[in-house]
Amino acid sequence: MMSKECLVMFVLFTATKSTLIKISDQVVHEVSEKFLSFTVDDTVFYPSIRWGAFNFSSPRLLTLIAGLSPAIWRIGGSPADWVVFNVEQDKLNMSAAHKTTPIAMTKHDWDNLVRLSVKANLRLLFDLDLQLRLGSHWGLSNTVELFDYCVSQGYGFNLDWELGNEPNAYHRPDQAQLTPDQIGNDFVSLVHLVRSYSAFQNSSVVGPDVVGVDGEAADIIKGFLKEAGQYTKAVTVHHYYFRGDIAKWTEYINLTHFGNLKPYLKTAKDIIRNSSYPQMALWLGETDDAWHSGTANVSDRYVSGFLWLDKLGVSAQSGVDVVIRQTFWGHNYGMINDSMLPNPDYWLSLLYRRLVGRLVLDVVTEHSPVTTRVYAHCASHRYYKPGAVTLFMLNVATKNSDKIIINQQFGDGKMDVYLMTPGNEDGLLSQEVSLNGHILKMVDDHTLPELKPVQKDIDEGIILPPTTYLFVVLPSAKLSVCK
Ligand SMILES: *[C@@H]1O[C@H](CO)[C@@H](O)[C@H](O)[C@H]1NC(C)=O
Ligand SMILES: *[C@@H]1O[C@H](CO)[C@@H](O)[C@H](O)[C@H]1NC(C)=O
Ligand SMILES: *[C@@H]1O[C@H](CO)[C@@H](O)[C@H](O)[C@H]1NC(C)=O
Ligand SMILES: *[C@@H]1O[C@H](CO)[C@@H](O)[C@H](O)[C@H]1NC(C)=O
Ligand SMILES: *[C@@H]1O[C@H](CO)[C@@H](O)[C@H](O)[C@H]1NC(C)=O
Ligand SMILES: *[C@@H]1O[C@H](CO)[C@@H](O)[C@H](O)[C@H]1NC(C)=O
Ligand SMILES: *[C@@H]1O[C@H](CO)[C@@H](O)[C@H](O)[C@H]1NC(C)=O
Repeated sequence: MMSKECLVMFVLFTATKSTLIKISDQVVHEVSEKFLSFTVDDTVFYPSIRWGAFNFSSPRLLTLIAGLSPAIWRIGGSPADWVVFNVEQDKLNMSAAHKTTPIAMTKHDWDNLVRLSVKANLRLLFDLDLQLRLGSHWGLSNTVELFDYCVSQGYGFNLDWELGNEPNAYHRPDQAQLTPDQIGNDFVSLVHLVRSYSAFQNSSVVGPDVVGVDGEAADIIKGFLKEAGQYTKAVTVHHYYFRGDIAKWTEYINLTHFGNLKPYLKTAKDIIRNSSYPQMALWLGETDDAWHSGTANVSDRYVSGFLWLDKLGVSAQSGVDVVIRQTFWGHNYGMINDSMLPNPDYWLSLLYRRLVGRLVLDVVTEHSPVTTRVYAHCASHRYYKPGAVTLFMLNVATKNSDKIIINQQFGDGKMDVYLMTPGNEDGLLSQEVSLNGHILKMVDDHTLPELKPVQKDIDEGIILPPTTYLFVVLPSAKLSVCK
């Protein structure tokens, strides 16, 4: 059944453009099953924050975070390089090895993190402090203390490790300056340490979490690969389109940003291909639309979804295995808010998780306006039969709708449409989001809603109203590569 709101929408915006698309029966990349992952920034350890509204005992939080599993939950960010495990805050200043005022992660913090990640079926990726130095080397004694504590508590099977955050930006006078080779060697020390614990026999090490892919950042990636490439699972780079705290909401649909990611990822891939480990995976290790905590009352609204969904599309197309969204909770760009309730990007991510599978397909478009962007994957087998195809697309044109015509015959000619629109009169700045005209809400603290499509004929074409995004599944496509 098509809802009334939805009907109104289709009638109001008669298509003025139309795009022809053809889905090629060829897999361009296979992403990780944990492709869509997320962070919590370790500013939560600051004495002034101490987790704030993040409520570890909230059943709603568990439902929401588990809703995105399997995924990687990364604890990292700039303060990673001054987080110290199990030292009383008032003694921290005494740490001779550390050049800046450290912040403490307590045993209780760690217990909460590990227990929630296990309950929610997540891997916990913890970013260790690379600024803890012992002479010219990484000082690993605090990590030994953390690892020993893990063993004493039976933790380990879902833990992975990183070392340092954005080491190409260690330019403050209170930060140790590190050469690319030194960073690579410090990763080797970490890998040897991890391997000396049987509890971590399945743990991975990834890095070097640079922001940028040229200059110093490129040199650090090369140093990391040269020294530690043999032992590590992925190269992690960070990416943001623009600075958030001074941005206007219109930046979030400014077309100039959408083209930036592809060349960035190509350069990262080229650096890896040119190394001795050309097959090494590439992850976006920390990423969102806008850096500097996103934009207040914008990054947690419907409008944030355009660049986020596009990033998921471009990354998969570009051969990225994992995209770690900054943040699940915290700052302006949290997927859930301080009431432990979903923001629009949570719903968008949930829908993505349910509909989009691991195999990435090529889509050829014709007569497409630059404001329309279309991606295709095999559908997730969790909800659809093998052979099904999922398309997702967005339209950043503010006035024109687009009509997407699939230039192929597929199965019984039916498609499932999942149109996401702003949930209230705040429009693009709505904190609520509707799916096919119905506002998305949790059923109760333990239950996420069913995400229901509207069934239509493929022949009708897919109407993509101005400034909206949507998913379409072709359930009976029977595409051979998707079987
Ligand atoms: C955290 O969640 C629990 C369980 O719902 C609730 O009892 C408690 O009041 C919450 N704490 C805060 C600070 O909101
Ligand atoms: C803490 O560190 C600051 C800056 O290095 C220093 O001035 C101060 O004396 C230290 N305090 C203690 C108690 O060590
Ligand atoms: C590592 O993974 C294997 C295979 O899944 C499992 O049997 C083993 O118990 C795991 N080891 C640890 C220490 O988690
Ligand atoms: C989009 O961004 C570009 C580059 O920052 C800027 O020149 C242009 O004015 C922006 N367009 C709009 C409509 O804001
Ligand atoms: C990769 O190697 C090629 C051939 O040496 C070189 O032209 C290219 O600039 C390198 N790319 C990167 C990103 O280092
Ligand atoms: C964001 O919205 C809140 C609540 O409406 C308001 O108190 C706050 O001042 C707004 N912040 C900015 C930067 O607009
Ligand atoms: C969280 O989002 C819900 C739904 O949009 C809203 O009702 C609630 O006020 C928000 N809470 C906070 C603290 O922003």
